[in-house]
Amino acid sequence: MKLRGSIALVTGSNRGLGKALVSALLDAGAAKVYAAARDPRKVVSTDPRIVPLALDTSKPEQIAAAARGAGDVTLLVNNAGVASAANVLTASQAALEADFATNVYGTLAVIRRFVPVLERATAGATIVNVLSLASLGSFPALGGYSASKAAAYSITQALRGELRGKLIDVLAVLPGPIDTDMVRDLPMPKTSPVDVARGVLAGVERGEEEIFPDPMAVEMGALWNRSHKEYERAFASF
Ligand SMILES: NC(=O)c1ccc[n+]([C@@H]2O[C@H](COP(=O)([O-])OP(=O)(O)OC[C@H]3O[C@@H](n4cnc5c(N)ncnc54)[C@H](OP(=O)(O)O)[C@@H]3O)[C@@H](O)[C@H]2O)c1
Repeated sequence: MKLRGSIALVTGSNRGLGKALVSALLDAGAAKVYAAARDPRKVVSTDPRIVPLALDTSKPEQIAAAARGAGDVTLLVNNAGVASAANVLTASQAALEADFATNVYGTLAVIRRFVPVLERATAGATIVNVLSLASLGSFPALGGYSASKAAAYSITQALRGELRGKLIDVLAVLPGPIDTDMVRDLPMPKTSPVDVARGVLAGVERGEEEIFPDPMAVEMGALWNRSHKEYERAFASF
């Protein structure tokens, strides 16, 4: 899709990758960006094209209000996410459910409400789901999170099938570690959110169904294409 002139909505846009995506969309010529956040007062809006929007993806009434208030969206970026659950054998049930609540059910709830909005875009529309390399193979140290991101990837594939014949593309973003609050305490090489956001938008412009937006993701994406088993083994020690 062409980003110039697009009208985007980014969930979880007050910090981390979401904030970088809003800036990158403005740089790419978006006409308007709904910067959705649980607390929209935390959205920094120096550009008149930014429209802060209250959106907690666990609150159906807020999602409905957002779909009414942002009825001109052509690009929906489901970025909001959490990483609560660590190893699957020891993570609490509450932590496992928290990851699924936001990363799977919250994302799906937003999509369900916004599909009728996106259908109105006569020149076509795009849904971008920010997933993870963990969607394609588990990081055992974040096994619960990985399971939720794998489920979100499966839902992304289901949506492609369900929306076939409509002018709505459904793209999966599969980043490696990003230098944000989410993995602040994990000692590993990370890509800056600014660079990842640029990589995401380059993939959106090219209409790639699987976007690997940073150097580690590109390398791991090539491995995944070569051998799913080798990919699984590469992450087994994480
Ligand atoms: N960081 C990484 O290494 C990495 C790697 C691959 C993929 N990702 C994915 O990238 C996306 C962005 O993550 P990040 O690294 O930027 O994390 P982050 O810095 O922790 O930011 C997470 C964002 O999601 C929002 N959020 C959480 N639950 C929400 C809810 N119920 N409703 C609305 N917003 C909610 C947060 O809002 P509050 O400020 O209100 O909490 C925050 O804006 C996530 O989907 C994550 O899984 C991250």
